[in-house]
Order: sequence, then C-alpha cells, then structure tokens
Amino acid sequence: MKTLSVDGKTVSVESGTMLYDAAVLAGASIPTLCRHEGLPHEGACRVCMVELHRRGTVRLVASCMFPVNEEGLEVRTDTERVRAARNFVIRLLLRRNGDSAAIRRLAAEENVLPDGRLPALEKELCIRCGRCIRACSANGTDALGFALRGWDRKTTPPFGEAAATCVGCLACAEVCPTGHISWEEKDGHRRIWGRDFALVCCEHCGEPFATEEQLAFLRAGHPSDALSPEEERFCPRCRRIRAGQSFTLEEVKDR
Ligand code: FES
Repeated sequence: MKTLSVDGKTVSVESGTMLYDAAVLAGASIPTLCRHEGLPHEGACRVCMVELHRRGTVRLVASCMFPVNEEGLEVRTDTERVRAARNFVIRLLLRRNGDSAAIRRLAAEENVLPDGRLPALEKELCIRCGRCIRACSANGTDALGFALRGWDRKTTPPFGEAAATCVGCLACAEVCPTGHISWEEKDGHRRIWGRDFALVCCEHCGEPFATEEQLAFLRAGHPSDALSPEEERFCPRCRRIRAGQSFTLEEVKDR
C-alpha cells in the first residue's frame, strides 16, 4: 500500500493505483473524457490534469495515467493552475469538435463557455481519444486503428477498407464518448465499418442482440467466453431473467 494526500486528505491505495482512482477514493471529482473504466488508459485527452507535488517539484500530470508507486505524493485537484489547464484543453476541444454534445456538456460542467463567434473546425465528432480502438483490441478483434498524423489523424479499419476482422459487435460505438461512430440496422442486418452483418434475434423477446459473426467469434475464442447453444438463443437480458425470476414478455420489453 502507498499513502498520499489528495486535497489535504490522506488516503492509502495499492501500489500502482492511478492518481485518478486514488483521488476519487479521497472524494475528489475530476473530469475525464478518454478514460473508460473497462479499458487500458491512454491519456489522450488531458482533461483529467491534476497538480502533483513530488520530491520538491510541482507539475501537472494526467491523473488517469500516473501510477502511485511511492509514498508521500501530494495531489491537488482544484488549484488555479489545474483549472486553467483544464479550461485550456476544453477550449481546444470546443474549438475543434464543438458540435459534440459530450464536449459541450463537459464544458458546461467545468464552466467553460464556448466562443459563439467561431464555428467548430470539424464537422466530425471524433476527438481521436482511441477508446474505440482500445475496445476493439480488448475484444480481440483488432479491426480498427489510427491512420495518418496530426490534423488528419483518424480512426479506420486497415487501409480504409471494409473491416475484415470486425464482427459487428458495436463495442466501438458504445464506448465512443462523442457518438461519432454510426451504424445502421435494416432488414435483419447491421451495417458498420463498411460491412454487413446478419443479426441474431432473441427467441424470447424478439430483439436483435448479436450478429452471427459475433457469436461465431466467441465460439472460436477462449472456451470460457463462448455461450452454450442454449444461451445463444436468448439476449443477455432474457438470459438473466430466465436464470432467475420469470417475467411476462411485456415486462421484459419494459425493462
Ligand atoms: S481522461 Fe485522463 S487523459 Fe483523458
């Protein structure tokens, strides 16, 4: 365990815990954008900056990326310097992707006013945080990556072609903080990243819950991830319901 101080509060955490988690444990509130609880962190957005006092030095660090590996760190999450850094980062995000509801919400929460005179520089909502890429990689499908550099950097399947290893699971779209990734469902098919996937519907509630490719991917992967033939017939919600209480179809649909 390591002990540190967060805004004057002493807290002990396991060695290697990120400053962000230690600060939250101490009751601090730090805004984030690219961080996702279930994914490796990348420190792409710099919204979560805090002031770190360490061995006689003071500097700003991205709290989601800095591990607590020593005793006596001192963290301040709400100093003038921290607020100025966050303000600056959020202003940049607003300037570039100001049409994003997520960024506007973040700006409102941090009391950063959009500059109404200037239109967003990009129409796209992507902020290059890489969450979609990390989710796809964590799933083992690795269908996405970054292409190009600087201003032109973008998320794409390899060579900008239809994503060969994509299974249409929508994990990328679900973790995207800005809603940039779009897909379409029509006539029993889902279209995303340039490919069509056949949807599998739940035998109980009738809702589509997976693609055929997704179930096949799970079957071919680690045996503990695969669903039994019985489980493959029902969506996760109905599976849970069938395992415990029984509900009417109307109640299932209402939940
Ligand atoms: S949330 Fe920490 S860098 Fe984005």
